[in-house]
Amino acid sequence: SNFDLTIRNGRISNADRTFHADIGIRDGVIVEIAEGLSAGKQDVDASGLWVLPGGIDSHCHIEQLSGMGLMCADDFYSGTVSAAFGGTTTIIPFAAQHRADSIPDVVASYSKLAREKAVIDYGFHLILANPDETALSKHLPQVIRDGITSLKVYMTYDKLKLDDYQLLEVMAVAGAEGALVMMHAENNDMIRWIAHRLLERGHVAPKFHAVAHDPLAESEATNRAIALANLVDVPVLIVHVAGRQTIEVIRNARRLGAAVHAESCPQYLLLEASDSDRPGVEGAKFCCSPPPRDKDSQEAVWQGLKDGTLGLFSSDHAPYRFDESGKLPKGDATTFKEMANGVPGLELRLPLLFSEGVMKGRLTIEEFVALTSTNHARMYGLAHRKGAIAVGSDADLALWNPARRVDVTAAMLHDQVGYTPYEGHSLQGWPEQVFSRGRCVVRDNKLQVERGTGQYIPRQRPEPLAKRATQSEAKGAFSQLVGLKRVP
Ligand code: URP
Ligand code: ZN
Ligand code: ZN
Ligand code: ZN
Repeated sequence: SNFDLTIRNGRISNADRTFHADIGIRDGVIVEIAEGLSAGKQDVDASGLWVLPGGIDSHCHIEQLSGMGLMCADDFYSGTVSAAFGGTTTIIPFAAQHRADSIPDVVASYSKLAREKAVIDYGFHLILANPDETALSKHLPQVIRDGITSLKVYMTYDKLKLDDYQLLEVMAVAGAEGALVMMHAENNDMIRWIAHRLLERGHVAPKFHAVAHDPLAESEATNRAIALANLVDVPVLIVHVAGRQTIEVIRNARRLGAAVHAESCPQYLLLEASDSDRPGVEGAKFCCSPPPRDKDSQEAVWQGLKDGTLGLFSSDHAPYRFDESGKLPKGDATTFKEMANGVPGLELRLPLLFSEGVMKGRLTIEEFVALTSTNHARMYGLAHRKGAIAVGSDADLALWNPARRVDVTAAMLHDQVGYTPYEGHSLQGWPEQVFSRGRCVVRDNKLQVERGTGQYIPRQRPEPLAKRATQSEAKGAFSQLVGLKRVP
């Protein structure tokens, strides 16, 4: 037969259009899209199903030690299995440097872990915590050329944060080498000051985390990150946007011509600060940074996803078990300052957006595909293989049943967290069959592949860098004076 696999009679959606056709797959790649294709060696009938590009989750923490030294609950096996069951076929987690680590060692050790365990494809971003001379002049350029074409830096967390001078240094190298800077934008001193005053007064419960991480800490740092990036004329991506004020800052900056991109996550659509107001430490289950805000900010996130201000919808999966080994280092005596920051979301990211967004009429299916897959491929240099159902692309596909109803429980999920902040949510629509490079990964609610069968995908230059407009005259003169280089 001409095809290893055909997927027939499905309703296919890409980011630009929806149509009916069969998909012919050979050697893991889509080789034909047409009606009435001849039978493959294997034939899947997708009648009544929606065939979508597999999700790309470009923000998730797997097998990672946090800035506070706490270990994630998911390794590259449970993390990728969980992703696949939720319709995601590619992840871009972090190779996370702590200040004492050498960057090549960090990349080598994460690469080894993923190679042995991942069941779907993956790339890496670097987390850069120590931009010393060797990092800036040697290691950062090296890893970028090896396909790690984006890096995350922090404006808060004492063990990770860079000051503005360091951020400029990193941005200048990223601009010269063609990498995208992802920014965790929160004002460290505002948060430290509020937290200190709260703790002094005995306000230690989880709900005070959201008080300490005021929306102004987020919007101020976002504004500053954009100004720093504008100064050195490089694009910047603000990750995990939570608050309305931050969205307004980003929208205005874009209107004024800034190359600023932004991401949001399920927790900012569906959770609120008030969720962490529960007896004892129970509220810690909803604690992440920035924290979920209120109904008004949820509405602003929906609007931002709809109008393109927020082009990426990721999970920021930061999985911690609800005990001393994870969220609560001191058990019930843990204060909000000691709780591990982060919520799980790798498996439910797509089902939550499908149900709350597409099924409730807030987003079109094409917008859903853009936000969960296509835009990630473009933003992070994966569009040569991922993010669209197109001839020549990897056969990474999810077959969604829009009629399937699912009531969320922690027990049905495949991560190692043991709880979900979405317990009891009623969802409509579920990805019933998932394919990665033409291999069936999930069918009949069972995993169909072995550990270690996912592949590392070196990434190309992110589209915001590849497509950069030529410099304005004023910027050109400035760049020459201060010796800024741009990617060739
Ligand atoms: O609370 C969060 N988001 N934890 C994960 C680490 C990060 O900053 O993304
Ligand atoms: Zn063949
Ligand atoms: Zn972050
Ligand atoms: Zn994160």
